[in-house]
Amino acid sequence: MAYSTAADTLVPIEAPKAHPLSGSFRKNMALPVHRWFRYSAGFSAAWAEQEIKARKGKGSVRVCDPFAGSGTTLIAAQRVGADARGVESHPFVARVAKAKLRWGADIGAFTARAERVVKLAGQGALPDPLPDLLAKIFEPEKLRRLLGLREALLSVSEHDEIDELLWLVLVAILRACSPAGTAQWQYVLPNKTKSRVADPVNAFRAQVAQMATDMLFMQALPGVGDAKVKVADARETAGAPDGWADLVVTSPPYPNNFDYADATRIEMTFLGEIASWGDLQGTVRKHLIRSCSQHMVRYDATAPLEDALLDPIGEELRDTYDQLDAVRREKGGRKAYHSMVVAYFHDLAACWHSLRRAVAEGGEVLFVIGDSAPYGVHLPVERWLGELALAAGFEDYTFTKLRDRNTSPLWKSRKHDVRLHEGILRVTG
Ligand SMILES: C[S@@+](CC[C@H](N)C(=O)[O-])C[C@H]1O[C@@H](n2cnc3c(N)ncnc32)[C@H](O)[C@@H]1O
Repeated sequence: MAYSTAADTLVPIEAPKAHPLSGSFRKNMALPVHRWFRYSAGFSAAWAEQEIKARKGKGSVRVCDPFAGSGTTLIAAQRVGADARGVESHPFVARVAKAKLRWGADIGAFTARAERVVKLAGQGALPDPLPDLLAKIFEPEKLRRLLGLREALLSVSEHDEIDELLWLVLVAILRACSPAGTAQWQYVLPNKTKSRVADPVNAFRAQVAQMATDMLFMQALPGVGDAKVKVADARETAGAPDGWADLVVTSPPYPNNFDYADATRIEMTFLGEIASWGDLQGTVRKHLIRSCSQHMVRYDATAPLEDALLDPIGEELRDTYDQLDAVRREKGGRKAYHSMVVAYFHDLAACWHSLRRAVAEGGEVLFVIGDSAPYGVHLPVERWLGELALAAGFEDYTFTKLRDRNTSPLWKSRKHDVRLHEGILRVTG
């Protein structure tokens, strides 16, 4: 596969060789635009593109993603000439996706304004008080340089799409400029350090150059689709007009205690949007599907367990709730997984209803999903989600397992021996 544009050194998208999830977001880091921000929660762009292409082969296709994340599906749709709509309720992540969709901006104006930023940027002022996290992960000199870039960015702002791209340039380089280790899922690892720490100005220039290259590449593609993302909640809207979408390609949060709010703590602290971990609840977590136990403060599962929305799985869910409540007591009451499981499926039931409104009859919904086993109690996630989809008005579901999880004896974070898997839940009708 060869490209005839100036950007032909970029890695072309090929159908995944092993299975669609292999490499997940890591492989996207070689792909134009996808690579602008490393969002480890993302999935394989090649797989998304392949699915959209296959559907497009049968006629026109309009794609929707109610958990748009950093925009993988939306950009994949654009590349194969399909229109796409998405929602993402994490405000920082939605802003990343929006900025990525600005690849059509004037490249000369983008690079020229970026150079003005570099020329204007001096040593920025440290916030007072300095948040502990920033003090812990940045050398003071580098932090001042990064803050200087931020001040310069604000001073040249024209409130346009180039501002959005330059914002992304800055947030995308933060981690590379810190000597602190960050895990695959973007938590800070205080005991790990990086051997190579980037210089802020060099990293800024390199990110601008990469983005300009990708913009040139995308702008040379023929017949690109139109894509939009909104900051909105998938429990209320899938982001598309009623009956608009023929295909949904998405991945919801899994009920596995991963905290999406915490995943962007570094960036949001740097931007002054939060001062500490405690601020995440009010600024981010309250907008998200309740998939981690941190959500469960003051949650009472009694009414949701009786709600008709959960009828199709009600009995099994109640049993699971009781089991988890019992295990929790044995463990000294530490994690409220019993409530989390109820809240999670209640939230997802609401999402199926908003998806039913957005998806045309005969449409297809693809969820990349994995099961989980909090405290070792297995949750048959794909079956319960399938049943909830049928109750919302879809006709059929199938699940294709793509890989096993929780199998490595070396995996240090293993807390139980339950075999887990991940795959594609395909809902139709
Ligand atoms: C598995 S990730 C999807 C990542 C995406 N496929 C990508 O490539 O970047 C799930 C996403 O759902 C978002 N999310 C959680 N609750 C949501 C809600 N109620 N409405 C919309 N998005 C939500 C999370 O912030 C997260 O970005």
